[in-house]
Amino acid sequence: MEMKCYPDVGALARGAAQFVVDWAREAVSLKGSFTFVLSGGNTPKPLYKTLSSIDYRKVMPWEQTHVFWGDERCVPKDHADSNYGMAYETMLKHLELPNGHVHRLPGETEPPEGGADAYERELKHFFASGHHGEPSPTSRSTERGFASFDLVLLGLGKDGHTASLFQGDAALEEETRWAVAVRNPRARPRVPRITLTLPLINEARCVMFLVSGEDKSQVIQAVLDDAGNPETAFPAARVRPKGRLLWYRS
Ligand code: 6PG
Repeated sequence: MEMKCYPDVGALARGAAQFVVDWAREAVSLKGSFTFVLSGGNTPKPLYKTLSSIDYRKVMPWEQTHVFWGDERCVPKDHADSNYGMAYETMLKHLELPNGHVHRLPGETEPPEGGADAYERELKHFFASGHHGEPSPTSRSTERGFASFDLVLLGLGKDGHTASLFQGDAALEEETRWAVAVRNPRARPRVPRITLTLPLINEARCVMFLVSGEDKSQVIQAVLDDAGNPETAFPAARVRPKGRLLWYRS
């Protein structure tokens, strides 16, 4: 586990953006593509604005980058609560990602279980068909059958949830599916969600928790103290990626 602390949200955004650029460039040099899972909520907004700013646009290999979502609220994509909508407004609309590189999680699908199934099919097709550059051990589905994303960005709720994995919800215990529906999230907005599952997240080459605010300090410490404890009450403590685990915080 690697921890980086920054004095304010601006410095956090720049530090995280620099890591994303470096990691993306390395992935592209390794296998010709970079698979980047975006997180929702408010914390990532300064990072997304920084990544789409001219200085970072020049060095970020957006042409070879595929973006995905770690979770989505079951609302239309232009709804104020949409994680896609937030990423579009803060970043994607300023970029010209090639067609087929924005893998939106269809949160508006009814029922949510249908949206989860559709996303799982899209992910499996993407990783099976070599669209992510030259197939290589790091990008082909692993022996456990899960894809390995290059970078999964995650936020942290005050209750220790991450993505839309909430304590006590069946989604947190899912061991085979890649994406599932969450009918009763324990955090606002209290709308059904679709989330990537823990085993898929843990297959990643790198997971970055991006967290800011004094009000998250206690839960960060609780999660770190419970790291790897299967009895933990904090879902984020069960994020134990095969690759690197980073905490970028301010
Ligand atoms: C979501 C996110 C969720 C978020 C945390 C932190 O869809 O809400 O995936 O896991 O990252 O709740 O949210 P803030 O960044 O708004 O504090």
